[in-house]
Amino acid sequence: MTDGARSGCALVTGASRGIGAAIARALAGDGWPVGVLYRSGADAAERVVAEITRGGGRALSIQADVADPGAPERAFGAVESHFQAPVLALVNNAGINRDDLAPSLDDERWNEVIETDLNGAFRFTRRALKGMLRARNGRIVNIASIVGLRANPGQANYAAAKAGLIAMTRTVAVEVARRGITVNAIAPGWIETEMTAGIAGELLAQVPARRAGTPGEVAAAVRFLASEEAAYITGAVLSVDGGLGA
Ligand code: NAI
Repeated sequence: MTDGARSGCALVTGASRGIGAAIARALAGDGWPVGVLYRSGADAAERVVAEITRGGGRALSIQADVADPGAPERAFGAVESHFQAPVLALVNNAGINRDDLAPSLDDERWNEVIETDLNGAFRFTRRALKGMLRARNGRIVNIASIVGLRANPGQANYAAAKAGLIAMTRTVAVEVARRGITVNAIAPGWIETEMTAGIAGELLAQVPARRAGTPGEVAAAVRFLASEEAAYITGAVLSVDGGLGA
């Protein structure tokens, strides 16, 4: 169990399924009480909470759309009052893609992805820093993507959001480094979840590891970055991609 787990709780956005659910389980396994944020999968979120509880951990499901500017205040209020502890670990995991080639990518799909993947993560980060600065302790992990580091045709909106998330990570990390807070990003490659269902064949040949990653493999990296042991790692982008970006 980490020091953070004793004095604070964790909040994971988009944690009802996929990578977010694996992250919630991993942090709970490390002793963090975990806020499991979901947008629409109430039953799935309850299953994640039940699994954590059965394993002896503590978790609370909270409905929140990260694209809603009022969501951070409500979510932090709910989780902090339930666990009677400040959020000292935030994982900005919620994300969507709305793919199309640039000539036909309309404003609606551009804005939807930027609102969710970038603006939402910024608002949750800003809210988290309040309590973390007070505690002089905190861990923020942003789930970016290899697409934020190199081109992927059809994903100009998603690439812009994830590259923005990486740039935000680095700058905020430097702003708060002397206050005991670390801010890092993870850049997953191809991870097998509902988001990537159906894209298997074409990508496999490009991945040096010759397989997709698992949500658990991304969660393991988050668990490390959220730990006390990672106190001197900040502003970093950790690839979890089977060598795809190497
Ligand atoms: P997923 O589609 O299985 O899960 C995404 C989660 O985010 C869901 O729980 C969904 O409800 C939630 N979400 C979406 N919009 C939301 C909103 N407005 N408010 C609250 N929650 C919202 O996707 P997956 O694969 O688990 O992805 C998780 C993160 O990892 C995303 O940020 C994604 O961009 C990133 N990622 C995924 C990769 C992959 O290969 N699966 C590769 C690189 C990055």
